[in-house]
Amino acid sequence: MNSRTCLVRLGVLCIWGLAVPMMLTSTDLDTLYLPAPENTGGRPLMEVLNERRSTRSFREDTLSDQVLSNLLWAAFGVNRSESGKRTAPSARNWQEIDIYVCLERGCYFYDAAEHVLVPILAEDIRSCTGSQSFVAKVPVNLVYIADFSRMHGAAEDQKTFYSAADAGFISQNVYLFCASEGLATVVRGLVDRDMLAEKLALKTDQKIILAQSVGYPVLQD
Ligand SMILES: Cc1cc2nc3c(=O)[nH]c(=O)nc-3n(C[C@H](O)[C@H](O)[C@H](O)COP(=O)(O)O)c2cc1C
Repeated sequence: MNSRTCLVRLGVLCIWGLAVPMMLTSTDLDTLYLPAPENTGGRPLMEVLNERRSTRSFREDTLSDQVLSNLLWAAFGVNRSESGKRTAPSARNWQEIDIYVCLERGCYFYDAAEHVLVPILAEDIRSCTGSQSFVAKVPVNLVYIADFSRMHGAAEDQKTFYSAADAGFISQNVYLFCASEGLATVVRGLVDRDMLAEKLALKTDQKIILAQSVGYPVLQD
């Protein structure tokens, strides 16, 4: 682990206490320093809305680090560095949704402030992110996990309601980015949450809301 990796991990641990204990043991996976997001360009919004759809057939081609960077920034990156606010809204600016990024090489936590992927688990757990057969081979499975301990002042039913709404905004950002970039995606509620929570060693305040697969569409003849 280099010194920056160490600082990033310590930073995450400082913010979330022992919320993500497996970071300290994932020695076989390095922090992935994403290239700066390309946050200009893209296709016109009305064309993108016209293309937005759910797709369940994917090629196995991986996404480049640049495309992954752009995807995660579009999903829930920091777009106002002075305030740390993000590309998707969140109720009371709780920013309670974390994105876990499950790739063939392992699972990472997206640290939006640093725009890096912090290792969680050096294991291919894509098949654990959903009960549909394509999830095991799709190059990227995003998992939206709410940390209820960040939702200060909310009653339990409010935590459930607002975290679902906030995950929806992130999911739609991903849909629009994918439509703009010619990527395929589908948001998924069909997730064995107990099994995945155990795999990720989540604490009880961390709730799996939705998952979303991203990859390149199967080419039409
Ligand atoms: C909250 C939510 C959960 C969903 N869960 C699944 C799912 O588990 N599996 C799946 O294949 N599609 C899932 N979908 C995608 C819907 O089936 C899809 O959006 C719907 O059929 C409309 O198709 P469209 O997105 O192409 O307009 C989900 C969509 C939403 C909004």
